[in-house]
Parts: sequence; structure tokens; C-alpha cells
Amino acid sequence: MSEFRLPDMTRARLRGKYQAPIVRDALNITPSQKELGAGLFYHVITYGCQANVRDGEVISGILEEMSYRHTDLLEEADIIILNTCAIRDNAEKRVMGEIGFLQNYKRMKPSLIIGLCGCMAQEEAVVNSVLSKYKTVDLIFGTHNLFEIPQMIEQIITKNQKAVRVYSHQGSIYEGLPSVRSLNHKASVNIMDGCDKFCTYCIVPYTRGQQRSRLMGDVLAEVQGLKDAGYKEVMLLGQNVNAYGKDIPDNGDFATLLNEVAKTGIERIRFTTSHPWDFTDGMIEAIAANENIMPFVHLPLQSGNNEILKRMGRRYTIDEYFAIFDKLKAAVKDIAISTDIIVGFPGETDEQFADTLKAVEYCKYDNAYSFIFSPRPGTPAARMEDDITMEVKKARLLQLNERLGYYSKLNNQKWVNRTVRVLVDGPSKNRPEIFSGYTPQQKLVNFEIKGASVGDIIDVKITQARKNSLNGIQIVGENDE
Ligand code: 5AD
Ligand code: SF4
Repeated sequence: MSEFRLPDMTRARLRGKYQAPIVRDALNITPSQKELGAGLFYHVITYGCQANVRDGEVISGILEEMSYRHTDLLEEADIIILNTCAIRDNAEKRVMGEIGFLQNYKRMKPSLIIGLCGCMAQEEAVVNSVLSKYKTVDLIFGTHNLFEIPQMIEQIITKNQKAVRVYSHQGSIYEGLPSVRSLNHKASVNIMDGCDKFCTYCIVPYTRGQQRSRLMGDVLAEVQGLKDAGYKEVMLLGQNVNAYGKDIPDNGDFATLLNEVAKTGIERIRFTTSHPWDFTDGMIEAIAANENIMPFVHLPLQSGNNEILKRMGRRYTIDEYFAIFDKLKAAVKDIAISTDIIVGFPGETDEQFADTLKAVEYCKYDNAYSFIFSPRPGTPAARMEDDITMEVKKARLLQLNERLGYYSKLNNQKWVNRTVRVLVDGPSKNRPEIFSGYTPQQKLVNFEIKGASVGDIIDVKITQARKNSLNGIQIVGENDE
């Protein structure tokens, strides 16, 4: 077995100031590795957040450099990679179930390579249990080890050895890795990786390493390249985009980056995720001033109670949160705001949960993701005393979701009879005569189409509001029909 080092959770928390090395032309691939996948097929299954989806595109790019071709069919695949998420326990359970299921394919085709990567691969307990329970897994690599895929696959094929490479170091920035983008009109652009916030419930700072921002010039060159290739929308991605640039000198902060990306003239710019901490006035001004920065912000609340926020390590009070929320609403016309909320944090009382409901009444979110707290091994919150039963937590989640659903429908109703600009994504799976796309506010619209194709930005009149989407009809100018 090759190099096998696992993350050290205790040491991770002690890390100090760090400027990550930039590795350019990061894929070091030999001529023989380039041929290894000739005539063979790959399939990547991605779970979790948009950072993982972007990693999945890079993994596909590397496999295609090795001459593998994509297949949608598991039975046709010669290599199947599970690109995993560790944010909550249920995400991990699904992956473990999937590995069990894939063993059947390996029985039918013993040469099949089964790989596990992503955030779960950064967890010591998970790697140990996969190695001992599932002999069929040949390949495990961490979030810092993508560039080593060719060497690892070569080792499996030519030496018939398992390959396990998981670094727990702070991380580097890899430029120039190939990727296969999943869409031709919308693209994600990583602006940073890792997180230094260490919210007490969250495993991300351990699995993705220390915050590392890409140089502004590299981000801008990527956006410009996408625009030149006909892309209409970019999503600037990071665990906490507001902190962009803080780890590199003479680069500029996130507000500067937003203004610079806007200058490329690409039609739609989005970004996620924004921590309320570090949300500057400069960012709000940039969103308000640039028409191509979409009026939509995901602003995770997590809890509406100051004591819980403190124990979560969030570093803002509910009043500070409301202040940012109010400024955004005042500065950006028709802005939509979404959020994340955790219920049942250890020891959360009925009164503390009621504060979360009050915050929801105040913010009346356009959209929200709500979760029951899931203890993640190694994080401080997993060690906190918790006397709240699962029944109580489930009841709180139901009550919260009822309010969240009420407000998302109420917000959607405001759009009925208005005409909105929609970036067309394509026909719906079940009803090909109905197309869907998103408004600037990131509202999903299903509409009858008169004439448009994927990537067009068209006018749609909203006819009906639902909880999670809008219905509409395409408006076509007199001369267009
Ligand atoms: N339990 C429940 N929810 C969590 N999240 C992060 N960690 C946990 C956890 N341990 C939620 C937060 C975060 C979103 C991506 O996932 O709300 O914003
Ligand atoms: Fe996790 Fe907090 Fe970092 Fe978000 S900001 S990834 S919740 S530690």
C-alpha cells in the first residue's frame, strides 16, 4: 500500500497564518498513463455541495486525459468513482450503501476499479472502516490528491495494488488541471478552497483544509475564457467567499474581485457561500452597482439565538445578522435572500428554538435549507452535552419548514403577472414541451416555450407561484413570431 496519511483533527485547529503554494500545470502525466484508459469507460457519482460538483468535473477531466470515456451506465464502466460528502451523517450512510451495492458490479467484472474520494476520504474513521469492510474498494484519494489520479490508477492496473493517498496538510492551489464541464452555458469557478472559520459543528475546515484563495488574475482569466467560449453565467465558489484574498498579500478582497469579474461583461455572476461575518459594505455596493451581479445572496443564519450562535462559533449576534440583511434589502432592488438553518444543536431549548422562528419571521426568506444537527466525529459540537430527544428535533424541523415554506410561497407570489428574464436551462425531463430556467433572483421558472434554446436569456411572464418554483409563458416580441 502506498502513502497513507490521515487528517489530524487536533492539529488542524491549531493552524496559523498560511499562504498556500501555487502549483501550475499541476497534472504531471506520463505518455503511458495517457493511454491507460483507452477503450475503457468511467462513471463519477458526486454527492454534496457545488465544490464537490466542481471537483467531479476535474476528476472527469483527468480521466479523459488518460483516454477513459464517460458512460452513464454503471454496468459499462471500468472505473466508478464515488465523490463523497461528509457534512452530515446521512450523506455518509448513503455512500456506504452505494459501496455495498457496487460490489455486485465488481463481482460481474473483477477488473472494475471502485474509487472513493471527496470529503469522506479525509476522515480517518471512514477510511479505516472502508479498508477493513469493503475489500472491493481499490482507490481512495483525498480532496488534495486529485492531481495524483494517473499515478494511482497506474499502480492499480500495472501492479495490482490498492492505491490510497490522503494528505492532511494545509493544501496547495492547483492551477491548470483539466476538467469536463457539465454544462455549456453555466459554469462554476473556484475562487478559493478550504475554510478557517471552524464553526463548532462543521467538518469542512478539516476535510478541505486551510483557506487558500486563487490569485485574482487566475480567476479573471478563467471567467474571461468561459465568456469567450459562450458561457452566460459563472458561479464564484468558496466555502466562505467573503474571506476571499485574506490569505494572499497584494491581491484584493472579494468586493474588488466582484467588481473585476463584472468588468468582463459576462451576463450573469453569482457567488456562494457568504458567511455573515466578513460581509463588507464594499461587497454590498458591488452587488448593487453591477447589473451583471445577480440580486441573490445565500446568507446562512444557522440559529436565531445569540447563545447558540456563540456555541456554534459563528461570531455574529442576531442583531448583526439583521443589520447585514437590512442593508442588502435596502441597497439591492428586488434582492432575494436564502439561508441555512440547523435545529437541535446540542442543548437547544424551546426558547432558543423560538428565537430561530422569530428570525425567520423577520427575514421571510425566499428559500432555505434546514437540517437537524448531525454530530461529526472530531468536531467540538460532537462532544457537547445534548439532552434533546430526536422526536423534539424532528418536531422543530417540521415546524420550521412550515414557516419557511409559507414565506417562500409568499415571496414567489410577488412575481405573478411580472415579466422576468430567464436563463434557459432546457426542457423538463418528464414534459419536453415545458422548459425551465432561473431568474436573476435564482427562482426556478417552468414555462411553455415558443422558440428559444439552452443558454438564451428570454422574457417570461409569470402566471402562477408555487412553493419552490414559478410557472410562466414566454413573451415573444411581435417581430419575433
Ligand atoms: N449538522 C447539521 N447541519 C450541518 N451543516 C454543516 N454542518 C452540519 C452538521 N454537523 C449545515 C450548515 C451549513 C450547511 C452547508 O450544512 O447549515 O451551512
Ligand atoms: Fe463550515 Fe462554518 Fe466554514 Fe461554512 S463557514 S464551511 S459552516 S466552518
